[in-house]
Amino acid sequence: MSADAWWRNGIVYQIYPRSFQDSDGDGIGDLRGIRERLDYLVGLGIDAVWISPIYPSPMADFGYDIADYEAIDPRFGSLADFDALVAQAKARGLKLILDYVPNHTSDRHPWFLESRSSRSDPKRDWYLWRDPAPDGGPPNNWLSNFGGPAWTLDEATGQYYCHSFLKEQPDLNWRNSEVRAAMYEVLRFWLRRGVDGFRVDVLYHLIKDDQFRDNPVNPAYQPGEDESHRLLPLYTTDRPEMQPLVAEMRRVVDAFSDTDSSRVLIGELYLPLDRLVAYYGRNAEGVLQGVQLPFNFQLIAAHWQAAEIGRIVRDYEAALPAGAAPNWVLGNHDKPRIASRIGEPRARLAALLLLSLRGTPTLYYGDEIGMTDVPIPPDEVQDPFEKNQPGKGLGRDPQRTPMQWSGEAGAGFTAGRPWLRLAADFTHRNVAAQQADPASILRLYQRLIALRRREPALHEGHYEALEAGTDVLAYARVQDDRRLVVLMNFGTAAAPIPAQLLPAGATVLLSTRTEDAAPVAPGFTLQPLEGVILG
Ligand code: NOJ
Repeated sequence: MSADAWWRNGIVYQIYPRSFQDSDGDGIGDLRGIRERLDYLVGLGIDAVWISPIYPSPMADFGYDIADYEAIDPRFGSLADFDALVAQAKARGLKLILDYVPNHTSDRHPWFLESRSSRSDPKRDWYLWRDPAPDGGPPNNWLSNFGGPAWTLDEATGQYYCHSFLKEQPDLNWRNSEVRAAMYEVLRFWLRRGVDGFRVDVLYHLIKDDQFRDNPVNPAYQPGEDESHRLLPLYTTDRPEMQPLVAEMRRVVDAFSDTDSSRVLIGELYLPLDRLVAYYGRNAEGVLQGVQLPFNFQLIAAHWQAAEIGRIVRDYEAALPAGAAPNWVLGNHDKPRIASRIGEPRARLAALLLLSLRGTPTLYYGDEIGMTDVPIPPDEVQDPFEKNQPGKGLGRDPQRTPMQWSGEAGAGFTAGRPWLRLAADFTHRNVAAQQADPASILRLYQRLIALRRREPALHEGHYEALEAGTDVLAYARVQDDRRLVVLMNFGTAAAPIPAQLLPAGATVLLSTRTEDAAPVAPGFTLQPLEGVILG
């Protein structure tokens, strides 16, 4: 196996650390808690854990506002806990990926405190400071992604600083070479401690227009939408200077890769397909020098119809540069959960899709038990996105509720009061109950992952689109003479499958409906919302 095989084929599992497992009863998940649950992750069959930020933070944006890049927030534990987690993950063959948040720090980060202390401070240029417009207002029309202007006035020094997110999250100036050097040291700090890679937060935001030009108005904006959509982010994201910067970052991480282990960069990039694949960073010689995995979020926005999903997969496969590693994501801590978007029966099909397509699948914690978004009453809202633009359905608390481990008080997550309320259904929708139920979505995930591991065609084979009627998504995964056929009936009526699609002598290796392996005979029909893998 080549050293990069793990991130090309392995399964990534995202942990939102506040909500995974609390070990000390304060109602907030922590590193020891994650350690206690490693065997569950091994049993599930995943390869790598990505943990959302665990660094010291005032928690204005729940850890995405970092006050010290090289320490652990006491709520989550200590560096010793972190080292123990790395050791225990490694002992079980699990890789560990950290969140790297390069676009902005907390406004309490010592760098920002120095930078704002005076116009002549040596760190002034580490952030984006501009004079007010002639009328005293913000220097240009840029908007914060959380609502309101992207500029806040510092009264004491009479200049505005730029923040793509909250005013508590000032943007670093990545054109400054000292900033780059300091931020690369952060990567090295964690690589030396043994991490296998990073998920890079809002990578495409790092460089802003050098002339600070106004963003154009978005003609498609509808009143009532997220107000940051009023403008098109032409001058604030995906600037041409991003490409050499990403290549530079990649070199820092590559220096820690060797024949036994390859370190990975996963880019958070909400971009159209043609711009997304640019972040593989293919140079004139065809070498891929960008991030190894530009996160592919297309399934998050997709309509759950066979034709649309089929088109998304085909277009993505066609857009990948030679040698690029594909990847697929169903959900994360910023988006409504898959089971709430499409319902559990279709979420089972989504699991089959995620784990039978080519490339690296990423699972969001709790999706494997079909957790749904939990309505949060207004007086319990925590997420600043909801607080800034209330009532628009933008809040992300619903998809961040505690993991449902058991039906006991606290759901096995905490002995205390959880920081965010538990789902009402935790008494029956939980890991313990689903482990005991062969028909559960958890058992389906386990079967899918085990099959994917057993069948090289599923993790390494090429992808071949097939035609099987309007409601059925069909494709083959092929390696040498092994040919597996994946069929998914998105419709609510039974769907007979054309005989020519059925591999000769095949059996049902897996069905989303039943555990039984059955021979495949002419007249083979999928039940409503059933998916199968034949081989
Ligand atoms: C993307 C993260 O996923 C999100 O949770 C966060 O609020 C923003 N970046 C700002 O860091």
